[in-house]
Amino acid sequence: MSFPVDVVILAAGKGTRMKSARPKVLHRLGGRALAQHVIDCVCSLQPRSVLLITGHEAAQVEAGLRCGEHSAAQLQFVRQQPQLGTGHALQQAAPLLPDDGVTLVLSGDVPLTQPSTLRALLDLCAGQQLALLTLELPDPSGYGRVLRTAQGAVQAIVEQKDASPAQLAISEIYSGIMAAPTRWLRRWLARLENQNAQGEYYLTDVVRFAVADGQPVLAHRIDDALQVAGVNSPLQLAELERAYQKRVAQALLEQGTRLVDPARLDVRGVLSCGPDVEIDVNCIFEGRVRLGAGVRIGPHCVISDAVIEDGAVIQAFTHIQGEAAGVSVGPGAQVGPFARLRPGAQLGAQVHIGNFVEVKNSSLAAGAKANHLAYLGDATLGERVNYGAGCITANYDGAHKHRTVIEADVHVGSNCVLVAPLTLGAGSTVGAGSTITQSTPTGGLSLARARQASVPGWQRPRKPGQAS
Ligand code: UD1
Ligand code: CA
Repeated sequence: MSFPVDVVILAAGKGTRMKSARPKVLHRLGGRALAQHVIDCVCSLQPRSVLLITGHEAAQVEAGLRCGEHSAAQLQFVRQQPQLGTGHALQQAAPLLPDDGVTLVLSGDVPLTQPSTLRALLDLCAGQQLALLTLELPDPSGYGRVLRTAQGAVQAIVEQKDASPAQLAISEIYSGIMAAPTRWLRRWLARLENQNAQGEYYLTDVVRFAVADGQPVLAHRIDDALQVAGVNSPLQLAELERAYQKRVAQALLEQGTRLVDPARLDVRGVLSCGPDVEIDVNCIFEGRVRLGAGVRIGPHCVISDAVIEDGAVIQAFTHIQGEAAGVSVGPGAQVGPFARLRPGAQLGAQVHIGNFVEVKNSSLAAGAKANHLAYLGDATLGERVNYGAGCITANYDGAHKHRTVIEADVHVGSNCVLVAPLTLGAGSTVGAGSTITQSTPTGGLSLARARQASVPGWQRPRKPGQAS
């Protein structure tokens, strides 16, 4: 762009129809706040500044949004109290908008606009003219209508509530997105009045003023209604969520990821897939998830903030929850079905984690196995450790967490309790059913359980008259 772009995102309104205590623009779509989608989209255009107009629940809205790490611009907030209309909202921002730029106006509740669409709108504006994003809708009700002359020149936008029956029949609507040379916009904003059906200062009245001033007004007409669809109700939010997920699934399919059913995938964050990844139905990905080449994800898995390396297999109903610490699954590892990996689980190459095994803040070196019904918390396992069915690291004494170190090639028999802190020496064996409270030497066998007694010919007690 040969001119600086200053973005204003309108987000002061209440969103009454959501029937929610949460401010509308903070409702989530694909795991991100509605207004965050708008912010991320405009930030990709490298604007000079990004202003968000807040009002209703301003503090909460301001705390919930930011420009991404790659953006040079920081998100700035301008409060609009009370909210007297979209034009009034822009008037609050005007003092912060330098005259040499173009102001790009968007709404915080319209999440699916594409950067390429905004780029085309800015190209049309070219720093010189007012450019409106418009579209034809079979049912234009509720929107502002675009009035044109017989020759097709844009003349004005008239709001639904102010429109005559003839104007209501117009199917070209204003999307709520415009680009305007700031030096003119400032003058037009100063002329707004609120003599209309809603008693509001309409931003859309600037079109009339531009025409009156003899300034060109151009419309960039698109035909993808999703890009300008706003969220006003839970139903619309759910519809846009589906549309968004469809878009994500299509992009994955196009780059070669195999989805058993694109309609049964939910990505609430960023999912990146290497070649030949297969994902079965009803999987949910949250936060940042990276799947390496050839990874297979079984049905009904929930995976958040994790890196799954090449060739690993995650079987059905596995829950991976990386949070801030993250989870990593090494190449060729097998996890699940019904496994649970919690923050800080780090599995090396070829590790096996089986059903009903929970791993938290623990690392397992290459080839280690915990195949059945076990808990590993705050533990470090060396290569090829075999951690038996039903074993538990007792890592928490009620006040502090302690580490369990299990060195390479240790075999822990079934149903052991390892009371941390302790170290099981390399190559040692722990007999089944042991409660281990001290470190064990390398190579030996440790048992910590009552010795078995067998009484030959012992008779069970009997009731009088009971048959033997
Ligand atoms: C607006 C347009 C309409 C367009 C439609 C597209 C005006 C007057 N009308 O109508 O032509 O077809 O968007 O969706 O602009 N907001 C504030 N402060 C206010 C009022 C609103 O920040 O005082 C914010 C809202 O939070 C929302 C956006 O502005 O994000 C649009 O407001 P809304 O009331 O939804 O405008 P519409 O009546 O839909
Ligand atoms: Ca609206």
